[in-house]
Amino acid sequence: MDKPAFQLCTNPDCKSTYDIAQALTACPACGWLLDIEYEWDKVPLPKKLSDFEARWATRRNTLDYSGVWRFRELLDFCPDEYKVSQGEGQTLLQQCDGVGNYVGVKQGNLFLQYEGFNPSGSFKDNGMTAAFSHAALVGAKRVACASTGNTSASLARYAAAAGMESIVFVGSGRIAFGKLAQALDYGARTFQVAGDFDDCMARVQEATDALNLYLVNSVNPFRLEGQKTIMLRVLERLNWEVPDWIVVPGGNLGNSSSFGKMWAELLKVGLIDRVPRLAVINSAGAPTLDRLVNSPETLLRYNGGRINVDIIEADYKWQDETNTKPHTIASAIEISKPVNITKCLRALDVCDGVVRALPDSEIMNAKSQVGLYGMGCEPASAASVAGARLLREEGIIDPNERVVCILTGHALKDPNATVGYHTGNYDADHMVEGPRHFSNMPVAVANDLDDIVRAIETPST
Ligand code: F0G
Repeated sequence: MDKPAFQLCTNPDCKSTYDIAQALTACPACGWLLDIEYEWDKVPLPKKLSDFEARWATRRNTLDYSGVWRFRELLDFCPDEYKVSQGEGQTLLQQCDGVGNYVGVKQGNLFLQYEGFNPSGSFKDNGMTAAFSHAALVGAKRVACASTGNTSASLARYAAAAGMESIVFVGSGRIAFGKLAQALDYGARTFQVAGDFDDCMARVQEATDALNLYLVNSVNPFRLEGQKTIMLRVLERLNWEVPDWIVVPGGNLGNSSSFGKMWAELLKVGLIDRVPRLAVINSAGAPTLDRLVNSPETLLRYNGGRINVDIIEADYKWQDETNTKPHTIASAIEISKPVNITKCLRALDVCDGVVRALPDSEIMNAKSQVGLYGMGCEPASAASVAGARLLREEGIIDPNERVVCILTGHALKDPNATVGYHTGNYDADHMVEGPRHFSNMPVAVANDLDDIVRAIETPST
C-alpha cells in the first residue's frame, strides 16, 4: 500500500504493526485496540493549518467539499480513488451567548459545535466516510455495526450509497425512532437483539468473526480517523486558535478518543503549540467511565499506556454479576461497557481531562436551553452543555475560558424525548424524575377565533 500509514497496537508491551490493507478491530497478537499511525516525515503536511483554507476555493471537488477529506493529509491512509463521501462535515461552530449564560461563562466564550448538520444527522458520518473508504479499499461487501441508533443510521446511508449490504444490531426498544426510521429507510437489515447496546456490541463482534463482515463500530481504527476532523473544524472557525475546553458526551468513547489523538498529533507535527482540556460527560444512568476514573477505589488512569485493565475487567464482571444495566433518556449513550475506554484514558491524559456524570433531568434542562437559543440537539448531545455547567459551578472551568460543547446529534433524532420534556408525558420506559425548568407546554384552544385570540394575548407562565 502506497501510503505513509500503518496499524499499530496500542498496548505498549505489544506494539505489533499491521498493514493498512488489513481489516482489523483488535490486535490479533494481544487483543488491544489498534491505532492508525503515520510516518509524518512522508506526509505532505501543510506548513500551517490555515493553508487548508485554499480548498474552500475548489469545493467542486468532492474531497475538497467534504469537511473530513479537505483535511486529508492528517488522515492519509487511503488512496483517493477509494474514498466514499456524502458531503459530510458541513457543520457549524456557533457562538451562543444564551447557552453561555446558562453555563456561566463570559459573553462570547461558549461555542456549540453542531454535528447534527451531517448527512445522517449525527457526528458519526465523519467516521463513516473514513471507515467506508477503508471498506472499499479492502473490497468489503457486507458491513455491520451494533448501535444505539446513530451509527446504524449513518452506516445504512453510506452502505446504500456505496452499494454494500448493511447489517445492524440494535437493542430491542432501546433506539430512538428517528434513528430506527433512517436505518429501515436506507435498507439496512436491522436485527433487534433482545438485550441492550453492550449485548449488541458483543454479538456483532462474534458475528463479524463468524461471517467475515466489515465492522464499522468505533473499534474500527479508521473510523476514528474521520472523527478527528471535528477538532479541525472547531479550530478553523476559531481562526485556528486552540480553545480552552472541549466538552463531549461519552458513550462508547470513540469521539473523545479520536479528539485526543488529533490534539496529540497536531502538537507532535508542530501545527499547534498547546492542547485544550477535555471533559467527557456520561449520563448518571450509564456512568462507567466516571466511576472508574473518579472513584477513590479505582482512580483508573492512562499510566503511560500501562493501563490497569484488571480494574476495567473487574468492573464489567461486577456489572454482569449484579445485573447492573444502564438506563438513561440519553439513549445514544446508554452504554456501560465502553469499548474505547483505554483510548479515552489516553485522550484524558493528553488533554488533562476530567470526567463527570449528570442526571437525566440536568441533561434535559440543558437540552432545552440548546433548543431555546436556536440550535437544538438530541438528549445525549446536551450532556456536554450540562457537563460544562457543572464544571463551571465546581470552578474547574473559569468564566474567562473559551468552551466548545460538541452537539453530537440532530434535534429530530428523538422527538419523543423532547415532547416528553415539554409536556411531562415521557414514554413509560423513559421517565425522567426532577424539575423541567424550561418546559413549553402546548396550549389547547377551541376551534374558535375569540378563544384563540384570548389564548395568544394571555402571557404564558
Ligand atoms: N452522542 C450521540 C448522539 C451518539 O449517537 C453517541 C454514540 C454518542 C454521543 C457517544 O459517542 O460513543 O463516541 O462516546 N452513539 C453510538 C451509536 C454508540 O451506536 O450510535 P461515543
